[in-house]
Amino acid sequence: MTSDDATTATGAHPGGIDWDTAAASFDDEPDHGLRDADVRAAWADRLAAWLPARPGDLLDLGCGTGSLSLLAAERGHRVTGVDLSPAMVERARAKLAGRDAVFLVGDAARPPVGERRFDAVLVRHVLWTLPDPGQVLRHWCGLLRPGGRLVLVEGVWGTVDPVGIPAERLTALLAPLVARQRLEPLSGDARLWGRPVTDERYAVVAMV
Ligand SMILES: C[S@@+](CC[C@H](N)C(=O)[O-])C[C@H]1O[C@@H](n2cnc3c(N)ncnc32)[C@H](O)[C@@H]1O
Repeated sequence: MTSDDATTATGAHPGGIDWDTAAASFDDEPDHGLRDADVRAAWADRLAAWLPARPGDLLDLGCGTGSLSLLAAERGHRVTGVDLSPAMVERARAKLAGRDAVFLVGDAARPPVGERRFDAVLVRHVLWTLPDPGQVLRHWCGLLRPGGRLVLVEGVWGTVDPVGIPAERLTALLAPLVARQRLEPLSGDARLWGRPVTDERYAVVAMV
């Protein structure tokens, strides 16, 4: 996410952004496309710490072009990605062609995965766009196997009219739903973003 994304956050699309249109240039941002080796390594290191050590079934909600899905697949996880934007899903399918990964067009709030359950649900920069995040988090917890975990990467972007979800709110929503959670501030790690940032960025790893 960039402050530029945030400043366009008005209108009728989820989060105010036309994600189908955004898909074509989405990977141009360092933290989206992970084209720079240092940025990519920074995210790979974080995911190694956040995801289960043993390869498992991973659900990437609002997967976008699949950049984090690919890092997870490279660690051996079997990935199911879901995104509302067909253009994003098309790019994710191309990015993970030949991998143990499937991508579905659908709503992250109620992903079309039937009775399937997962070892990890990974969601980066999506929860803030969804109405009623408390209900959504409850549903996501129900998609996890016993001992499973949510890995949520969120933040607050922009200064004039900020959008996003503050860590304090997210951890309060999660508290009654999970056994334990760990908040990791990410603003100080410029490698993740390809530049220094000053707004609030963080990850929460929550065990059910
Ligand atoms: C900021 S991008 C993040 C993409 C990806 N998670 C990443 O970190 O690279 C937000 C993504 O969420 C998707 N999205 C927005 N609302 C959604 C919804 N209700 N259900 C599924 N995907 C949604 C958009 O299409 C877009 O791909």
